[in-house]
Amino acid sequence: MTKLHILDHPLIQSKLTRMRDVRTDNEDFRQLLDELTALMVYEITRDYPLRERKIDTPLESTVGLGIDTPVVLVPILRAGTGMLSGVLHLIPMAKVGHIGLYRDPNTLQPVDYYCKLPLNLSDAQVILVDPMLATGGSAIAATDTIKREGGKDIQFLCLVAAPEGVEAYGAAHPDVPVYTAALDRQLNEKGYILPGLGDAGDRIFGT
Ligand code: PRP
Ligand code: URA
Repeated sequence: MTKLHILDHPLIQSKLTRMRDVRTDNEDFRQLLDELTALMVYEITRDYPLRERKIDTPLESTVGLGIDTPVVLVPILRAGTGMLSGVLHLIPMAKVGHIGLYRDPNTLQPVDYYCKLPLNLSDAQVILVDPMLATGGSAIAATDTIKREGGKDIQFLCLVAAPEGVEAYGAAHPDVPVYTAALDRQLNEKGYILPGLGDAGDRIFGT
């Protein structure tokens, strides 16, 4: 069973609605994706471990706190790269891996074409990002790859999920929590999410 978290903060929901709107152009879509991703990252990092840090303020020495885990961010190419800057804005020290996958339009199966991941994945908190969880094929394949390379502690962050994808992903990777801004109604016959937001990659990049 998927550990599904729907992030229902009003700012997340209102920005997602603007992204769904067909009148939103590429420039605004990218900007909203950036802002929305940062808001979601704020929510999903809530339980990250902290370590004490000695620092000097202008007045005296004190003990503060810092994040106590390396973070590796893995966008699924290409639409996932639209979420990169939103995460890096809040976690600038994160390392970044890339997994290249596209969905074959006829079979809807993921076809992989690229993989470059940082070393020492096993010690890191991995955040896998892709705006869309449709059939689940791409996210499942990317998570398979991350686990094969040693990743253990993985969070999957998307914007819009379909029930079909949530179920398939949970069956394949029940240990990985899924964070989304919306659980939509269903897939259409071409594997697009309804109501969805269309083709995320095309809307980000204007193709
Ligand atoms: C989209 C999206 C996901 C995938 C989701 O990518 O960004 O990676 O589809 O579908 P699935 O859950 O059925 O696998 P697409 O294949 O269109 O590639 P792109 O990001 O290069 O446009
Ligand atoms: N990929 C997208 O970009 N959009 C969908 O609705 C489904 C898969």
